[in-house]
Parts: sequence; structure tokens; C-alpha cells
Amino acid sequence: MTKSFELRVKHSGVVPVKFFRDLPDGNLFISEGRKNIDFDIKRVYFINNLANHKAVRGMHAHRKLEQVIFCINGSFTLHLDDGVVKQRIKLSDPALGIRVGPMLWHSMSSFSYDCVILVLASDYFDESDYIRDYDVFLQAAKAPEKH
Ligand code: TYD
Repeated sequence: MTKSFELRVKHSGVVPVKFFRDLPDGNLFISEGRKNIDFDIKRVYFINNLANHKAVRGMHAHRKLEQVIFCINGSFTLHLDDGVVKQRIKLSDPALGIRVGPMLWHSMSSFSYDCVILVLASDYFDESDYIRDYDVFLQAAKAPEKH
């Protein structure tokens, strides 16, 4: 079931979670802030009822936010773009999160009917952290990184 990915885009990577397989009584998956998740988790959100197979979600980047995205049921395709490199990943393994760090244009598509997406985020919702215009993103992605 576990398929690993090589992430070529910036500010990304695979985030494995600890899990206990106890079938047929269930699997238990664990994420802990500042342990397997690099940041303190301030917000959790999840997306379900993805009944429209043609839906496309996301289509934005964040200036500072760190997130880890999991497909905890079903499958979907995550599209990542750092302004230079573009990558497409099919997610179906709940034990593998994908880091979506700052300045990564991302979208999600090809949802299975039973898909459930879980996102762990480093900060509260803040619309001013979003870049929703792809041209603005491309310009900002060209700017030298601040450290
Ligand atoms: P958005 O992040 O654009 O969704 P997606 O990337 O999954 O397509 O958010 C959709 C709407 O929900 C938008 O109006 C902002 C709002 N929202 C919040 O109020 N709080 C949140 O934590 C998130 C993620 C979204």
C-alpha cells in the first residue's frame, strides 16, 4: 500500500506518520506537532463529500503558511508548482502526508467518490496569506527568498 514519492518542487516533501495496524479492528494514524509534523499545529480542516469527480479545489499559494495534506480515504491528485517545477502526485495512502510549504501553487483534482482530505496547518485562517492569482504567484516566486 505504501508508495513513496520523490518531491522535486520546493518547500515540499513526504511526511510519514506513525501508524498501528490492528486489522480487522482498524488502523491508527498519529501526527504530533514538532515531532513528525515540523510545526505547531494551529488549525485542522478536512474536506469530504467530493461527489463531483470533475471538481478542482485549491488553485492558490500561501505566502507563509505551512501545511501537511493527507488523503485519509479514497484518492485524489495533488498538483504542485513552485513557479519553475510542476509535479503531480496521486495520493491514496493515509500514512503519507505531503508538505505544502510557502510559495507553492497547489490544486487538487480527480477525487474518488469516497475521498476525504485532512489538512494540518501551522496558522489560523488568514486571507491575506493567500495568493489566488497565478500571475501574481509567478512574479512573487521569482523574487529572492527571505530568510
Ligand atoms: P479555500 O482555501 O479557497 O478552499 P480550497 O483550497 O479547498 O478550494 O477556502 C474556501 C472558503 O473557505 C474560502 O471562502 C475561505 C474559507 N476558509 C475558512 O474560512 N477557513 C479555513 O480554514 C479555510 C481552509 C477556508
